[in-house]
Amino acid sequence: MYKEIKVAALIAAAGSGERFGAGQPKQFIDIGGAPMLFRTASVFDAHPAIDEIYVVAGAGQLELTQRILSDVHKFKNAIVGGRTRQDSVLRGLEAMSLSGNDIVLIHDAARPGVTETVIDANIATAYEKGAAVACVPVKDTIYHVSESEGAAILTDAPPRDSLYAVQTPQGFRYGLIREAHAAAAREGYAATDDGMLAKRSGEEVWITPGDYGNIKITTQHDLPDDIRVGIGFDVHAFAQNRKLILGGVEIPFEKGLMGHSDADVLTHALMDAMLGALSLGDIGQFFPDTDLAFKGISSMALLACVKSKIENAGYRVKNVDTVILAERPKLSPHRETIRNRIAGALDIPSHQVGVKATTTEGLGFTGREEGIGAQAVIQLIRN
Ligand code: CTP
Ligand code: MG
Repeated sequence: MYKEIKVAALIAAAGSGERFGAGQPKQFIDIGGAPMLFRTASVFDAHPAIDEIYVVAGAGQLELTQRILSDVHKFKNAIVGGRTRQDSVLRGLEAMSLSGNDIVLIHDAARPGVTETVIDANIATAYEKGAAVACVPVKDTIYHVSESEGAAILTDAPPRDSLYAVQTPQGFRYGLIREAHAAAAREGYAATDDGMLAKRSGEEVWITPGDYGNIKITTQHDLPDDIRVGIGFDVHAFAQNRKLILGGVEIPFEKGLMGHSDADVLTHALMDAMLGALSLGDIGQFFPDTDLAFKGISSMALLACVKSKIENAGYRVKNVDTVILAERPKLSPHRETIRNRIAGALDIPSHQVGVKATTTEGLGFTGREEGIGAQAVIQLIRN
């Protein structure tokens, strides 16, 4: 793609993540099953124009960093960083074996949301112009403020269309950025990004399209939603002289469902979906039908118990959808009542609860009116 030159990524991963406060530097926290640093490096690894990846790591984390990157094919070297990001990047640049015309893309490990498109545009402009910084137009109005009586006071509101929020990658010809960094170090000049240093050296710095998803993970709030999905299914046979309870609501009918508890088939499917979403097992494990404590118990009481297990694991219910399979009785008149009952029990608005019913057109055990089946899916979100 860029045949006559090398294109390398330099990933800054030597910070301590004070503001994130995870007890370990944020680049090592798990995001969807892999450390953040691995996620970030993998995007560059998969990019066809990138030849080599260098990573700057904290002095105490060199081994961990190398281990995390062992499956990253283009990973070349980990270098010990410095006290500030600028120190770290300078040390990284000094350790890279590149010639002046090669391109280096400096990127924060804390931006795992970088995309191939963002990298593409950044390399292309760095190649053509020498210095390129990924940015997005700011969406909020930005104030300049100054201090007055111990508080902040508006001094100026620059026009929004001239304001861009700065991201990484920031791509440069290697010779240019190395010299800009060396000059800043010599003169004791501190900047918050590399583009500012290139500009200070008299270079024109070009803006390339970033991505609103390419955020720098700084505090816990910046983490992507941790969403879990669960599925549940249950069947109970009809029995004479029993109440028919669905979703905690008694439905007038000539018979009910057989079971150790109140045989609320819908609530059972729902509880299994909740437990399944967190791989906690199923209701049979928690409420065995050999245990007399659960004989005749209201399934809504069991649901409250499952709900607190979910909450103790740090999750809450986002929404549920359910379907009841029954030839008879007709359930549409009871749908709203069931919905509201489940919503109340789960502490969520009723528009987050779906309750549907279907016949099976006379087919199967439900069609023969031998029993009722129910299915549920659930979405849990980490608090
Ligand atoms: N970084 C670095 N060397 C430092 C400081 C920061 O390589 N001495 C890296 C971080 O690892 C991160 C990126 O620069 O990938 C952006 O910095 P920031 O978001 O500030 O991360 P931290 O410094 O780790 O976080 P904090 O400022 O909250 O401590
Ligand atoms: Mg920092």
